[in-house]
Amino acid sequence: MVIAPKVRGFICTTAHPAGCWAAVEEQIREVERFPHTGGPKKVLVIGASTGYGLASRISLAFGFGAATLGVSFERPASGSRTATAGWYNTAAFEGLARERGLYARDIMGDAFSREVKEQAAACIRAELGKVDMVVYSLAAPRRTLPDGTAVSSVLKTVGAPYSNKTIDLKTRTVRPVEVPPATEQEIADTVKVMGGEDWMDWMSFLQGEGLLAPGCITLAYSYLGPEVTHPMYLDGSIGQAKKHLKATADEMGRKLEGIKAYVSVNKALVTQSSAAIPIVPLYITMLYKVMKEMGLHEGCIQQMDRLFREKLFVPTPVVDEAGYLRPDDWEMRPDVQQRVDALWEKVDDANLEQLCDIDGYWEDFYHMFGFGFTGVDYEGDIDPDVSLPGLWKEE
Ligand code: NAI
Repeated sequence: MVIAPKVRGFICTTAHPAGCWAAVEEQIREVERFPHTGGPKKVLVIGASTGYGLASRISLAFGFGAATLGVSFERPASGSRTATAGWYNTAAFEGLARERGLYARDIMGDAFSREVKEQAAACIRAELGKVDMVVYSLAAPRRTLPDGTAVSSVLKTVGAPYSNKTIDLKTRTVRPVEVPPATEQEIADTVKVMGGEDWMDWMSFLQGEGLLAPGCITLAYSYLGPEVTHPMYLDGSIGQAKKHLKATADEMGRKLEGIKAYVSVNKALVTQSSAAIPIVPLYITMLYKVMKEMGLHEGCIQQMDRLFREKLFVPTPVVDEAGYLRPDDWEMRPDVQQRVDALWEKVDDANLEQLCDIDGYWEDFYHMFGFGFTGVDYEGDIDPDVSLPGLWKEE
């Protein structure tokens, strides 16, 4: 079939297999520009199919030469429905890794479940022995708890409602927005989904099974951001979950012997998850504008590769006073933030196109689903049914 983008709200309901292949190849080329030394050799990546998790996996495999096992929640094609972009990205990753003789396996399923944790343990036991790094890069809207109840995360404020402006990316206009406060229950549920509880479950389980190498590093991702995003992010419901994630990292260091747990604060970027957060997309379009003009712009792959090469796999990992790794250091530079602040004050419908990189936003958006790459034939027929040669099946 011929596959064209179908955009619905914050997502695109189709994805292009050849375009996703091109996207993964582009990220590999980016990694191969730099020398890589040290680093882990056997890595489990939870949330490996898109965004920061996929970029981490590409840097660790194609840069540092690591064998990788990925866990993601993606769906194959069925009938006239294409697979999800994360499925095609995973197929491309596996294909390109195998071409270079790199081990790559995948489990598709709910990472919150006991069953998927057991599958990952069986795969590690059978084929890897132990892992020396676990990347936890889940971004999920809901979680099913062991007793079968489902809880959802919300993107709301805490305490009072917050009014500011946001961007309508479709109509390219600025409009006022009021974000309501979350209830106590919604905050607790958001912490359950996006906090550190499941990360701790993974690590304690793998440690108990004897599948973590001594000195194993584990890493999860967070965002702090500038003041204009705080009511929505850091001080909002998602921020409470991220505080729990950091407290979990600190607890892991005390509770799980021989494990080094870190939280890395990453740059705000267009991913399938960030597109849904109110106010943040307007900030992202301004940040892109400023950072591109200053020659400082990075995507997920440049962020993760720089994190590993310059901050984590160095003799002494580079952390701030609170113990966070900070690849968001360029985003948070005072000169960058002053310029974004000035744009924020000025922006309106008349100057939006000049002050914000809306085209850059849409370019990243379409790329996430495998669209908009030169060299890919989007007019031609393509089989949407793509298999994963490295899908883990227990004997
Ligand atoms: P994403 O939506 O691109 O990736 C999410 C990943 O989680 C995908 O691989 C997906 O398959 C997987 N996943 C979701 N639910 C799952 C489930 N139940 N079982 C197994 N896998 C599941 O998101 P993104 O943006 O890369 O987020 C990753 C982490 O980075 C999150 O913790 C996020 O808060 C953090 N972060 C994101 C920033 C951004 O601007 N996008 C900035 C700083 C941190």
